[in-house]
Amino acid sequence: MKTETTIQGLAASLQPARAARKTIGFVPTMGNLHEGHLTLVREAKKICDVVVVSIFVNPIQFGPNEDFDSYPRTLDQDSQLLAEVGCDIIFAPSVEQMYGSKPRLTNISVSEITADLCGLQRPGHFDGVAVVVTKLFNMVQPNYAFFGEKDYQQLAVIRQFVRDLNIPLEVIGVPIVRAADGLALSSRNGYLSAEQRQIAPTIYQSLKAAAQALQQGETLSQVLANIKATLTAAGFVVDYVEARTTELQKIEAFSEDLVLFVAAKLGNTRLIDNLQVKHSA
Ligand code: PAF
Repeated sequence: MKTETTIQGLAASLQPARAARKTIGFVPTMGNLHEGHLTLVREAKKICDVVVVSIFVNPIQFGPNEDFDSYPRTLDQDSQLLAEVGCDIIFAPSVEQMYGSKPRLTNISVSEITADLCGLQRPGHFDGVAVVVTKLFNMVQPNYAFFGEKDYQQLAVIRQFVRDLNIPLEVIGVPIVRAADGLALSSRNGYLSAEQRQIAPTIYQSLKAAAQALQQGETLSQVLANIKATLTAAGFVVDYVEARTTELQKIEAFSEDLVLFVAAKLGNTRLIDNLQVKHSA
């Protein structure tokens, strides 16, 4: 496994694979890797000859009061984990390498599907993701790129700009990886105190109970209100509890497959999760 920190070094490391027309898989990350990321790498290994993982904490997707400075940077530990799952190339550039020293005058902004859910709470976040992911796609030029469904809205945004801008690669979504108690794996789980960690699985429990209630005929508005009440009672400050179609359109009733979305804070830690609910016709 090679580690590259410059765009030139990455290009040189990828050159033999490109010359041999090997398929390149790409897993973009911000590091502090957990089983969720490693699952993405394993999925990539199944269908790609060469797998590149980027580790870059992207400043432009963090708001002024968010955790950019404190976001865990654990490159040595990440490298060890990536070696174990057969990653071929780590790309770990500096901010200077990614953005240069001259001002960036270009933005990539996906409308409509970024207008609510996390887009409402985190203005500019998805533009920051779209810019960095596009830059990384141009640097790696992969055939396939892998993203977790935990960031469902992010995945929809990436699919959208890849389609809109004819970026020549296939985006592959990978189901959420959960701890044994149901908590969706996230680097931010590391911020939770022991007590908060005990409470955190309430999000998944309330989503599962909601899915069951919907299947049993309870109304969508009642089910959403129940999730909110459960989370508030458990000590969360709820950002949103919403339902959308699988394409992120608003939905008033359980009349087709839908996705339940939660964003809620435990102390200073903001957790997100979602659950897809099938509608059997
Ligand atoms: O999901 C993430 O870790 C980040 O948003 C991504 C896609 C690596 C872009 O910085």
